[in-house]
Amino acid sequence: MKNLDSKSHVRGESIYLDDIPLIQETLYACVYDSTVAHGKLKNVDVSEAEKAKGVVKIITAKDLIGENQIGGILPDEPLFADEEVHFQGMPIALVLAETEEQARSAAKKIKTEIELLEIVTDPRVAFAKNDLIVPPKHFKLGDADKAFKTCAYVFEGRADINGQEHLYIETQGAYAVPTEQGGMRVYSSTQGPTAVQRCVSRVTALPMHQIEVDVTRLGGGFGGKEDQANAWAALCAVGTQLTKRPVKYALHRMEDMRMTGKRHPYSADYKIGLNKDLKIAAYEVVFYQNAGASADLSPPVLERTLFHCTNAYFIPNVTATAHSCRTNLPPNTAFRGFGGPQGMFVIESAIAHAAEALNVSASEIQRKNLIGDGDEFPYGQIAESEAITTWTQADAKFDFAKLQKKADEFNAENKFFKKGVALMPICFGISFTKTPMNQARSLVHVYTDGSVAVSTGAVEMGQGVNTKIAQVAARIFSLPIERIKIHTTNTLRIANTSPTAASAAADLNGHATQIACETILQRLKDVAKDLVEAQSADDVSIENGFVFRKGESTDLDWLTLVNECHMQRVSLSEHAHYATQGIHFDWSTAKGHPFAYHVYGTAVVGATVDCLRGIYTVDFVKACHDFGSSMNTSVDYGQIEGGIVQGIGWLTMEEVVYDESGRLRSNALSTYKIPDIYSVPKTIEFIPLETTRESLAIFNSKAVGEPPLMYGIGAYFAIRNAVRAFNSENSPAFDAPFTPERVLMNLYSETVKKMKV
Ligand code: MTE
Ligand code: HPA
Ligand code: MOS
Repeated sequence: MKNLDSKSHVRGESIYLDDIPLIQETLYACVYDSTVAHGKLKNVDVSEAEKAKGVVKIITAKDLIGENQIGGILPDEPLFADEEVHFQGMPIALVLAETEEQARSAAKKIKTEIELLEIVTDPRVAFAKNDLIVPPKHFKLGDADKAFKTCAYVFEGRADINGQEHLYIETQGAYAVPTEQGGMRVYSSTQGPTAVQRCVSRVTALPMHQIEVDVTRLGGGFGGKEDQANAWAALCAVGTQLTKRPVKYALHRMEDMRMTGKRHPYSADYKIGLNKDLKIAAYEVVFYQNAGASADLSPPVLERTLFHCTNAYFIPNVTATAHSCRTNLPPNTAFRGFGGPQGMFVIESAIAHAAEALNVSASEIQRKNLIGDGDEFPYGQIAESEAITTWTQADAKFDFAKLQKKADEFNAENKFFKKGVALMPICFGISFTKTPMNQARSLVHVYTDGSVAVSTGAVEMGQGVNTKIAQVAARIFSLPIERIKIHTTNTLRIANTSPTAASAAADLNGHATQIACETILQRLKDVAKDLVEAQSADDVSIENGFVFRKGESTDLDWLTLVNECHMQRVSLSEHAHYATQGIHFDWSTAKGHPFAYHVYGTAVVGATVDCLRGIYTVDFVKACHDFGSSMNTSVDYGQIEGGIVQGIGWLTMEEVVYDESGRLRSNALSTYKIPDIYSVPKTIEFIPLETTRESLAIFNSKAVGEPPLMYGIGAYFAIRNAVRAFNSENSPAFDAPFTPERVLMNLYSETVKKMKV
């Protein structure tokens, strides 16, 4: 079944924040943000701007009625810079004007006096200054120090991986509207309506029950709106509070790119030890996360880097340490994979390093170390592993040896074009790593015309969660999908939501919906029992709009039954709660069972490099992927394709560039290149893993939002293998993304950094 939004999307009828009809008297907001990455804010002069045409009010830190603080995890992020600025793009003032143009032109008239302080953009420099967001985090399994002493081979090196701009099609934005008695309704393009509600409450000092947050859908979030939608909602809310008028702010693309954080860049040092049989006996890794100027979601992102630092491999002795380093960049934030992909890139680099030094294929080391059933992850959870199965099934279908042989033959015949092939197994844990976040609620109403309305805490952002939730209700009630309507995500209907993140929205909100529907269904059956003269409600079933007694059809239909319930004053509504069972994690020991389950898969990726020009194509990504049992292949396959392309983009062409002053140089689509239709691999092919194993996934349909992105890591290594096929002396540093410029440098430059072997 297609995504329920697909028709309205292509017709341009879907409603995003910028499509909400505006109420009279709406004001337009524009931020004036810091042009300096670090400094003392000596003076803000708004006098010229205040006199500009159409300007109604200019707000700075001193005007706030509530707290000047939006940090959700740590209180280290002022809404408006007060005494200091910490990054270029940090809001200093908010201009409210009658038109958008007036707000924007007035903002340009604001002047500031800032005394420069030292600017740090490199996480290793921040680490040397001990400027950390939180104390370091550690994972330990076995005894790596001891194990290294008995390893046949030990290799050490460094891997660097850059950030990534979310580039959701819809930029950040919010629209706040005053309601009675000093309250407000806030429309926000957010993955976390409750986070917005909490943040608005904090900066306005209004209780949460005065604040209604409503989200229809997002034009993409990708993690960028899990936390960072808050600021814009808070700014609009403050504007509304101080003017008693509706306030709207939809960011322009360059503002969004300049002012918001991105995927975290990481630098890492690794040490990998192998035995003669190529089993990895020990792994030590230290991560330096570039957190940006404040915590935002950096601590849990850092934790997930540790959770995935051994990817789909079992390594008996692991010591992993992670540092969250404060720099003068916009606070970096959640991005599809949430730190996991960075951890996985580093272990894949370590394996590639070992393979190169030992003159074996990386795939041989990968295969020999795949995690098996019953193996322990460094965080204590015991694997129910599909790693070996997905590898074997992918190999059976796609024939890795043949793909490699074809590449080798091509390389033997071609001097200036080289092909590379790489394997990329993945393993991704499903659940918020913070256990209490794994809960959700659903509100289901059956109306007297037989139609069904569902509200949950899930936010639709293109990933198809609404379609899946509608399928859940349709399946439980045995109704056609047209009878189900999924309503906006609204904090009055569903309170205290977790953000739509961690790929868990369909599992959490789908299960809550299942429980609500089953509760109503039971009431319907209790009423139907007497109507169809069944002995027990268990003898009653409802299928395709009709009531059955012991499997035999009756002439009682859905509509009649629903109305009979209502006449008998039986409730046709239910508000249900779901919490994932069996998960826990204790940071004092860094052990537990944090994930409901893992998603596995193995991809083989092929690339061709033009060795004269340094450009390349990713030719194919072929994978065996663990869907469990997909409840919607159209949606899930879309997630796989999109995730793969986004992952390839991150590791190849997308290059976030900040200069030493902390200024974003890649600040527009002209300087930040994302994949287009021509950079999509010619072949993206995948087969579902065949397994009957049960999981905690909704209807056993495993989460699919984030894991496929990590197949994209294979593109990096495929390109690297092609570069090495051109010149086997060449040993490109593990420094992603592999842009065409870097490929060219690696093909020819004498000064390329040689990897220490
Ligand atoms: N797909 C689309 N089209 N748009 C998005 O913003 N976000 C991704 C993924 N797929 C995203 C997407 C991220 S980061 C997550 S965590 C999941 O969707 C969240 O949705 P889910 O929990 O319903 O999978
Ligand atoms: N994933 C995504 N978002 C999150 C998580 C997580 O594990 N924890 C907190 N926010
Ligand atoms: Mo996704 S990074 O968990 O929003």
